[in-house]
Amino acid sequence: MKEINTIEYKENQLILLDQRKLPLRKEYFICATYKDVEFAIKDMVVRGAPAIGAAAAYGVLLAALEFEKNTKENFVKNMNIACEALNNSRPTAVNLMWAIKRMKIIVSSDNGVKNICNLLKEEADYIFKEDINTNKKMAKEGYRVIPKGARILTHCNTGALATAGYGTALGVIREAHYLGKDIFVYADETRPRLQGARLTAWELKEENIPFTLIADSTAATLIRDGKIDVILVGADRIALNGDSANKIGTFMLAVVAKRYNVPFYIVAPTTTIDFEIETGDEIEIEERASEEITHIGGVRIVPTDINVYNPAFDVTPNEYITGIITEKGILKTPYNPSITKFRNNF
Ligand code: MRU
Repeated sequence: MKEINTIEYKENQLILLDQRKLPLRKEYFICATYKDVEFAIKDMVVRGAPAIGAAAAYGVLLAALEFEKNTKENFVKNMNIACEALNNSRPTAVNLMWAIKRMKIIVSSDNGVKNICNLLKEEADYIFKEDINTNKKMAKEGYRVIPKGARILTHCNTGALATAGYGTALGVIREAHYLGKDIFVYADETRPRLQGARLTAWELKEENIPFTLIADSTAATLIRDGKIDVILVGADRIALNGDSANKIGTFMLAVVAKRYNVPFYIVAPTTTIDFEIETGDEIEIEERASEEITHIGGVRIVPTDINVYNPAFDVTPNEYITGIITEKGILKTPYNPSITKFRNNF
């Protein structure tokens, strides 16, 4: 497997592989302050639910280093401001809030500032490393549902770029490929940010996994024509009843999959579960700038002065989900009892 360093913390800096530039340019974006990390998450230098969680954790650490010389009182005050800013950088992926919550527990502990800084470094490293381990466990779980010779459809980018490493849905795909399941992937281009065309295609090519890139609107035809055996996607937030938010366009795949009896799986770590919400109706859906639709590569492609609606995510109701593949096993409907059991671990 080729090593993809999406996120690296080195010498008090967070080094991010700039996902706005891939695949045409491999550039790195250096964050020296928490505000750099806040910008990087907002502007999608780093993106994907687990990846922004890990990046935000390092953002909190950078803030601590900035305020290290403050009195304890000022340190805590400034850290709360920094945590709030990072928390608000994107609204849908709950991994971001989960990571910041863990870091805040340390900030508000009785320790001295120096000690807190050391503990924050340990915690951010733990969040980062644990995500890679979790992804590998999910891959082992998910591998079981992939038939030999499967043609797999996926949406958005859920690979090493979207996580601390390996990937969620793309991690299962990697595993199936390495273990000789002889799979073939169809990757949706994923308008408007083209995470499928730019990032998933890049990762699949790097790994020599056979695939074909399709326009999002081609997926239904492939499903109807019996050319897809299983659909694997990630998630940004999962409610207690299993309703799952993921990249815009996921919901329509799930509806068509159900119509044609194609299994539709969510692959997500338990850090993507929001234990505070009962259903997907409570998930805040991020709306992004109209330029993501009106422009391609910085060039306007639509008439001026028109209305644009650009939600970044949609919610797939649990009834369309065949199973949720987590590091702790594959959940099946009804989701609520099995998801609730995980709550105790948080
Ligand atoms: O807007 P993005 O690119 O951050 O959206 C990413 C997705 O929707 C992914 O499918 C999701 O975060 C799961 S990735 C492991």
